[in-house]
Amino acid sequence: MVAPSPIGERIAELLESSRIAFASGDTTGAWGCLEDAHVLSQPWAVRHVQVHMAMLSLGWRIRSAREMSGQIARLVVAGPASLLARYPSGNSGRADVSAFEAAPIRPDLADLLAEADAAENGTRVLDVAGVRRLYDRMAPFYDLASKPYDWVGARRLVDRAILELRLQPGDTVVDLGTGTGRNLIALADIVGPTGHVIGVDVSPRMLSRARSRIEKRGLRGVVLVEADIATFGLPVDVRAVLSTYAIEMLPNYQAVIGRFAGEMAAGGRIAVTGLRDPDRWPEWTIRVGSALNRPFGVAKDYRSHRPWEAIEAHTTDTIYEEGLAGAVYLAAGTATGPEGERS
Ligand SMILES: C[S@@+](CC[C@H](N)C(=O)[O-])C[C@H]1O[C@@H](n2cnc3c(N)ncnc32)[C@H](O)[C@@H]1O
Repeated sequence: MVAPSPIGERIAELLESSRIAFASGDTTGAWGCLEDAHVLSQPWAVRHVQVHMAMLSLGWRIRSAREMSGQIARLVVAGPASLLARYPSGNSGRADVSAFEAAPIRPDLADLLAEADAAENGTRVLDVAGVRRLYDRMAPFYDLASKPYDWVGARRLVDRAILELRLQPGDTVVDLGTGTGRNLIALADIVGPTGHVIGVDVSPRMLSRARSRIEKRGLRGVVLVEADIATFGLPVDVRAVLSTYAIEMLPNYQAVIGRFAGEMAAGGRIAVTGLRDPDRWPEWTIRVGSALNRPFGVAKDYRSHRPWEAIEAHTTDTIYEEGLAGAVYLAAGTATGPEGERS
């Protein structure tokens, strides 16, 4: 949805150059800059709309009714066209060409687009430093940005996951990728004052929101640990491990799940929820969903991540459920313990 920075910066430069060219009487040059900006912006909804706004504004300044009406029509479709990847690449974006006609892309623009494509595919699964940067930036907005997911019921499986941990008062439970600590209160309520809850996250700012949350509730027995899940060692007395919308972010999630299952005493419970690629949805809806989830660090390569299979491999008594028509999953089971994978 949002253009990667080299493209975003180039588009911003072209918009500025267009304004300068127009101010100095070079209308042809001004349109030329906007046409280049349009070609670069097409894959990214926000920039694409922005360029058509600039074209509408220039159309108004030169009092071209044709350009203005053409730009208003294009403004309506630009965002969805980018999100659905249904646009005629190389199209100049002007009202004097069909909005459905693709055109060859000039080599310098094609190079920039190819680089951006590589960069986007390269955002693959973020490394841990990338996760920390992303979530530190996101921390102030995370709870608000999660609201739409709550409204559609994405947290229902989290409640189920917590039940599947089969916690008892006095137990110790770990929440991996705890974020702003949305699971901590429910967990602390169950394990009670004699139990312990450990929230682990790599983002100090997410943890600081979690800290405010637990302080507000005056919760004791909740400890927050800044650590990479991949290297975090489970304390010996842990009875249960939870991870909601986090573990699939790890490139080596399979090995990590296997390690936790092995580190827990046999009988310990693991429950994981997360996003998954719905099997029966049309591809375009998955693309829109991925675009909406991109600010949370969800990248194309997550589509191949299947933590529920790792849970199945390393637990007995395994359950698997889906929600939101297959867009979210819950997998839980009883850790096989140091014995290793189940046969
Ligand atoms: C989408 S948020 C989910 C937060 C919370 N579990 C929830 O359900 O609201 C993902 C969280 O996982 C954390 N995370 C991702 N990879 C991590 C890693 N390798 N080590 C520690 N935390 C990680 C991020 O910092 C972020 O806070």
